[in-house]
Amino acid sequence: MLNDRLEALGDNPFYRLATLLAGSQPRANETPLMMSAGEPQHAPPALLAETVARNAHLWGKYPGNEGSPEFRRAVAAWLGRRYALPEGMIDPDRQVLPLSGTKEGLYMLAQVAVPAEKNGRRPTVLLPNPYYHVYSAAAVMSGAEPVFLSATAETGFLPDLDAIPEEALERCAVFYLCSPANPQGALAGIDYLKRLIGLARQYDFLLVADECYAEIYDGAPPAGALEAAAALGGSTDHVVVMHSLSKRSSAPGIRCGFVAGCPDLIRLFARLRSYGGPSVPMPLLAAATALWEEETHVTENRALYRQKFDVAERVLGKRYSFYRPPGGFFLWLDVGDGEEATRRLWSEAAIKVVPGGYVAKPDADGRNIGKPYIRVALVHDAETVEAGLGRMVRTLG
Ligand SMILES: Cc1ncc(COP(=O)(O)O)c(C=O)c1O
Repeated sequence: MLNDRLEALGDNPFYRLATLLAGSQPRANETPLMMSAGEPQHAPPALLAETVARNAHLWGKYPGNEGSPEFRRAVAAWLGRRYALPEGMIDPDRQVLPLSGTKEGLYMLAQVAVPAEKNGRRPTVLLPNPYYHVYSAAAVMSGAEPVFLSATAETGFLPDLDAIPEEALERCAVFYLCSPANPQGALAGIDYLKRLIGLARQYDFLLVADECYAEIYDGAPPAGALEAAAALGGSTDHVVVMHSLSKRSSAPGIRCGFVAGCPDLIRLFARLRSYGGPSVPMPLLAAATALWEEETHVTENRALYRQKFDVAERVLGKRYSFYRPPGGFFLWLDVGDGEEATRRLWSEAAIKVVPGGYVAKPDADGRNIGKPYIRVALVHDAETVEAGLGRMVRTLG
């Protein structure tokens, strides 16, 4: 292995899942059902393909890093509407960049935001536990020490901000927050976000608010970090947010999201990306622009997820400590032993899920808080989800 950091990082959860299930066959006579990846299977709106086709003449152009002015304006306007931001709070030309999906943005941003040393010591990157695996990769590959903050049922499935060691805050370069949270669906409220921004400014770290599930929610729309920044006076200092069309518009294949917020950070990030960043092809950027300007398909999409949570409530009842997640589209189910349940669900019911222990790290006591859980993605249509959950109940009891 050439890179010892990569060696330390190990395999991502999906590689580990493939290893776990290698050699075991899915139950014969059942159609395999992938409830493992968070890959939305609803049809994206026709607007997407139509706009790509209309912009086919742009395939012959290299896209710029900064995207088009139309894209940046559409994003800034959407942020303004979605979070009721004061007029002009987000300058489209200084505070928005397109991403080839938020995954690469979340990963690459750490290369800008993590210095070699902070206050003469090794920087930390703070992240929730369980976590989206890209945060830990960003931390490790940037040379920081990842500090996993337990987000359990007892803490409302969000990191307890009062429990973070002072020493970790002093060394903190980046804090990844996921709200709505993958995998638990928890939402950070406005006070939580304001408090976290306060800490970011006090301890001089960057808050990266991963809000890619912001449009998939059950009740009221989740608060956002820019909304909290507005409530604190309107500065985006020490704050960026990331959003994606993968979940909002059921278009994971378009590979398009954005980062918005702190102008100094956006400027440096644009500089880094001018060397090695992927840029979004122009016909796709045109489609993305049209999608950020359109809300009907988002409302319809959200309604489909609500139907599926109705299905889950009906089929699962109180099994596996089921609760209806307020955001996102995962079920986080306590099945006792997540790995064992995953193995059985594949071989006995042809359902693929993710063991919770693969998206969590052992805490200070050596206990992996994800171990009892499985993560189940409700990304298919309601009928398929109903059949899948029915198979799950028949298998696990
Ligand atoms: C929490 C979280 N953040 C970011 C992403 C990346 O999404 P994309 O790169 O499609 O925007 C995902 C994808 O599943 C995710 O679950």
